[in-house]
Amino acid sequence: MKDIMIRTMTLEDLDHYLDLRETVASEARLIGAEAPIDRAGDRDKTVARYVTAEDGCMFVAIFGDRLVGASGVNVHQGIADLGMNIAPEWRGRGIGSALIEASIDWARAQAAHKISLQVWPHNDTAIALYEKYGFVREGYLRRHWRRRNGELWDAVIMGLLLDQALADGGA
Ligand SMILES: CC(C)(COP(=O)(O)OP(=O)(O)OC[C@H]1O[C@@H](n2cnc3c(N)ncnc32)[C@H](O)[C@@H]1OP(=O)(O)O)[C@@H](O)C(=O)NCCC(=O)NCCS
Repeated sequence: MKDIMIRTMTLEDLDHYLDLRETVASEARLIGAEAPIDRAGDRDKTVARYVTAEDGCMFVAIFGDRLVGASGVNVHQGIADLGMNIAPEWRGRGIGSALIEASIDWARAQAAHKISLQVWPHNDTAIALYEKYGFVREGYLRRHWRRRNGELWDAVIMGLLLDQALADGGA
């Protein structure tokens, strides 16, 4: 993590973020998005969900002038969703951990009671990262997401309770 800066995303980062998203989508088996991404649509959604919205935030990992990772978190009715992308050559160096820690802290500061996400069952690396931070498997969606090639893929639902008392309906 030496020389890597974690900060919130700005409008100036958008093109670099979309490049990263395109790269990871091109790997075809890790995130929901498929390449080629809808760049204009993704730009608008990213700004609306994570830059201008008060209930959303994106953290980026910067090395020099390169954006090498990003995590987006958005809170709705106290439930935060989370998505993460690290550039392939930068994985396994602690960047995902730094980004998830920033995202969990941010969600907690918004008084979210929970973080919820979906992950492909074959994405062992992401599942290991989430479990390391206390996420548990809460459900399994069978033949749920239609891919562009027509296949239907399963998804694992994972959740992290941020405040057990709040989650139980307490004060
Ligand atoms: C999943 C991802 C975000 C992890 O980021 P990362 O920077 O590689 O993660 P870190 O280096 O901080 O490692 C964190 C933990 O992830 C797990 N992990 C990392 N690399 C792993 C590997 N090759 N195999 C298994 N687990 C691995 C470990 O639990 C690790 O903790 P440890 O170092 O204490 O063992 C990254 O691989 C990525 O962007 N993948 C492609 C996109 C993606 O899958 N996004 C999530 C979609 S739900």
